[in-house]
Amino acid sequence: MSKITAAITGVGGYVPEYILTNKELESKVETNDEWITSRTGIKERRILKGEGLGTSHMAEKAVKELLKKTNTNPLDIDLLICCTTTPDFIFPATGNLLCDMCGLKNAFSYDLNAACSGFLFGLVTGSQFIETGKYKKVLVVGADKMSAIVNYEDRATCILFGDGAGAVLLEPSTDGYGVIDSVLKTDGAGADFLCQKAGGSRRPPSIESVTNKEHYAFQEGATVFKSAVTNMSGVAAEIMERNNLTSDQVTWLVPHQANKRIIDATAARMGVAEDKVMINIHKYGNTTNATIPLVIWDYEKKLKKGDNLVLAAFGGGFTWGSIYLKWAYDPK
Ligand code: UT7
Repeated sequence: MSKITAAITGVGGYVPEYILTNKELESKVETNDEWITSRTGIKERRILKGEGLGTSHMAEKAVKELLKKTNTNPLDIDLLICCTTTPDFIFPATGNLLCDMCGLKNAFSYDLNAACSGFLFGLVTGSQFIETGKYKKVLVVGADKMSAIVNYEDRATCILFGDGAGAVLLEPSTDGYGVIDSVLKTDGAGADFLCQKAGGSRRPPSIESVTNKEHYAFQEGATVFKSAVTNMSGVAAEIMERNNLTSDQVTWLVPHQANKRIIDATAARMGVAEDKVMINIHKYGNTTNATIPLVIWDYEKKLKKGDNLVLAAFGGGFTWGSIYLKWAYDPK
């Protein structure tokens, strides 16, 4: 019997309507459009407004769009993996809420938190369920409401992040499409450089933790930047080498959208030309777990069956990784 691989057979996405521009940020903190654009490549990001709306609200829209586009019965979904760093609650899992919201009555689900590399970790995990032959339809969701943990008085972080959600459907392929290879890495020694200091079990919420603004995302930017450049480009180069992929054979680099300069460095190390790099950081900023599915969603119409995609990400934890996948369908 031929080997089963996990092919992406559809992609859905959602970004909230509200656009937070660099100009509006200029009125909140000491910054300017020129600095933000030249240091990060970001022009605007989307922000989810509305009382009581969490990450699940955006993920629900992405999943429902995906089910409709692929003409998939929600009852046929076996598993949903929700990759998020901003779950609706510490528990229950946002994935569980999503199954209920989207009518996935026969699926089991769980959340996966690997910060900005979360979607890659989820894609590999979901693929392995498909590869067993037991699971036929797996949804991998990447969604974050970063505005819930961003301090809009901190210019070092508030310019970077946005809200959004993306989702892919994985189904078995026996023709060699889908996830071919992956390299995933973690290094907890990097934990202090990009984290949320309070709100978990080590430092539960208290008046003091709130007063000290420890429930917001904290980042030591320059340290994270250096690690991101070294590790994201290193792992992307490693996956090319392991799979004997020349830069000409890479149809698309699909990078995590944290900083245009990190993306450029990764493409340069891989020898991949700029017109083969998926980019939407200028529109959405860093949506953490959602960047990779959202950028695939934006580029879906340009993808052709058999295209070689190299996905790469780096994030808090530290976590990083790269996936080589063969695209499974032509534009519909
Ligand atoms: O997705 C998860 C992984 N995260 C990342 O990959 C992000 C990695 N880090 C970065 O992208 C960059 O480090 C940043 C974009 C966050 C910062 O860029 P940088 O070139 O590393 O700047 P810096 O932190 O070294 O700061 C340079 C200067 C500082 O001023 P002084 O000390 O040189 O006078 C900052 O205070 O820029 C200042 N600065 C700003 N100026 C205007 C910091 N933020 C701003 C701002 N507007 N928003």
